[in-house]
Amino acid sequence: MYRNHTNGELRLSHVGQKITLSGWVQKVRDKGFMIWVDLRDRYGITQLIFDEERTPKEMMEKARTLGREFVIQIEGAVIERESKNKNIPTGEIEILVSELTILNVSKTPPFTIEDETDGGDELRMKYRYLDIRRNPVRENLIFRSKVSMEVRNYLTQQGFIDVETPYLIKSTPEGARDFVVPSRMNEGQFYALPQSPQTFKQLLMIGGLDKYFQIVKCFRDEDLRADRQPEFTQIDCEMAFVEQEDILNVFEGLTRHLLKEINGFEIEEFPRITFDEAMRRYGNDKPDIRFGMEFGELNEVTQHKDFGVFNNAELVVGISVPGGNSYSRKEIDKLIDWIRRPQVGALGMVYCRCNEDGSFKSSVDKFYNQEDFAQWADLTGAKSGDLICILSGEKNKVRAQLSALRMELAERLGLRNPKVFAPLWVVDFPLLEWDEETERFHAMHHPFTSPKLGQIDLLATNPGDVKANAYDLVLNGNEIGGGSIRIHDKETQALMFDYLGFTPDEAKAQFGFLMDAFEYGAPPHGGLAFGLDRLVAILGGQETIRDFIAFPKNNSGRDVMIDAPSPIADDQLTELCLKLNL
Ligand code: AMO
Repeated sequence: MYRNHTNGELRLSHVGQKITLSGWVQKVRDKGFMIWVDLRDRYGITQLIFDEERTPKEMMEKARTLGREFVIQIEGAVIERESKNKNIPTGEIEILVSELTILNVSKTPPFTIEDETDGGDELRMKYRYLDIRRNPVRENLIFRSKVSMEVRNYLTQQGFIDVETPYLIKSTPEGARDFVVPSRMNEGQFYALPQSPQTFKQLLMIGGLDKYFQIVKCFRDEDLRADRQPEFTQIDCEMAFVEQEDILNVFEGLTRHLLKEINGFEIEEFPRITFDEAMRRYGNDKPDIRFGMEFGELNEVTQHKDFGVFNNAELVVGISVPGGNSYSRKEIDKLIDWIRRPQVGALGMVYCRCNEDGSFKSSVDKFYNQEDFAQWADLTGAKSGDLICILSGEKNKVRAQLSALRMELAERLGLRNPKVFAPLWVVDFPLLEWDEETERFHAMHHPFTSPKLGQIDLLATNPGDVKANAYDLVLNGNEIGGGSIRIHDKETQALMFDYLGFTPDEAKAQFGFLMDAFEYGAPPHGGLAFGLDRLVAILGGQETIRDFIAFPKNNSGRDVMIDAPSPIADDQLTELCLKLNL
């Protein structure tokens, strides 16, 4: 038996007991006549003691050979510590060792295995197994396990059935590129790894399974960010005989359950806003509503004066920064530099100080008077002591720029408290989205999303105005999940493909199986998928999903530990008919 207790378990009540422990050597302190060793495992740290008086000489010598991360097993007696350590749960006891077995030696680790490590990101990724020994990483993985278990329990109790869908499939159009897998047995042909199980879950509804869920890996070849990985995990769900309201209720229930069980955070009904309203009030379809700073549209009160910049703008819009009047001129200039960075792309910013005495002072005093400024303050909700920041230009661009500024300022002002959770549903998304690059409409969610009742005819005249039965769950400014009510008849689906630029032959080749299935009694259905990595990170008070994934990829999509992707042998290429005849 390697152990009968863990290193996080022993207390004063165990004093006098003979125990066996195993674990890793965290630290050795050698005072000559006495050696202390901190022994670590997943559960905690226990202090071992060897001393000249009570420990045989050979064992003292052996203890002296121990290095960091050696794996050892000990037997010994639990004794009360003379100087207690109140900072750890086992701090009142130590183990007087009577047997020491070295189970394995270790090279000196390339970074310290401590909460605050000296290892940089890449190094920690290369030795991820060592990183996982550190408390913060291990705790994140345990936290993730707890969240997914709660999800499973909740959905199972609600009658959802966990069904696995295949990974070697045909392309699903979720908007990113596919990862493809060559087929050895079908020369020149490829599988695609699923960007999501979208079509399969719809087929499961046609199969009559009614309520499906799966915690499933999805694969998307897209540019990576803090909240994106090329392979990530969805809590994927679908239900039959439901309307949007039913789905929102079930998944609001799930989210409320998680917030309560995991975070002890109770919340009433989630607010809902339409996509249009989200864009107008926050310039963003995933607004962080933990704080105000809502947009005030100022066209009416700024245009038709002599300020050409505003007169020529499609949208003039501002936010009020609480306490921002205390910013020095230099600080405001820095803020202007910040919004001019290419990542944000604003040309400039007009500001207006709201003085304590009720007067205003702005960067455009030449063109506006105190009454104008009072209106600006009114529309942006600014009070004395605040600073109004105003951007202008093309509507969509300016909204995105001001939204970036709003988030940045909120971050700097400490308004994005990770212990507070503010979920909301964003509903009534547009069905289609104009893509500048291809100069075509694309499905904003995916091509299986149904348009709102009675809006299908609008497709012919004003495609950009058609709204979809599509919704997103947003939590603290992050898109946690999205879904829709699906099209379930062949004609509408064919029409959608047509609007999206598929010829009937292309639609048949790619999605014939689904259109055929629609002809065999497809029930009305809909669903959604939560990003598990994102959900876990946000519930854990963070926004970087990498820290909640055991073996993540770096920003270039590489696994630096196993060194993937990597070339494959010539034989393999030949076998897969991938060898180029140069
Ligand atoms: P969607 O594409 O919105 O919907 O994805 C659902 C959720 O998955 C998460 N997500 C990601 N997380 C990490 N890395 C990524 N690269 C990544 N991409 C997406 C997000 C997102 O909200 N089939 C539909 C769902 C449906 O209609 O039912 C779908 O996949 O949190």
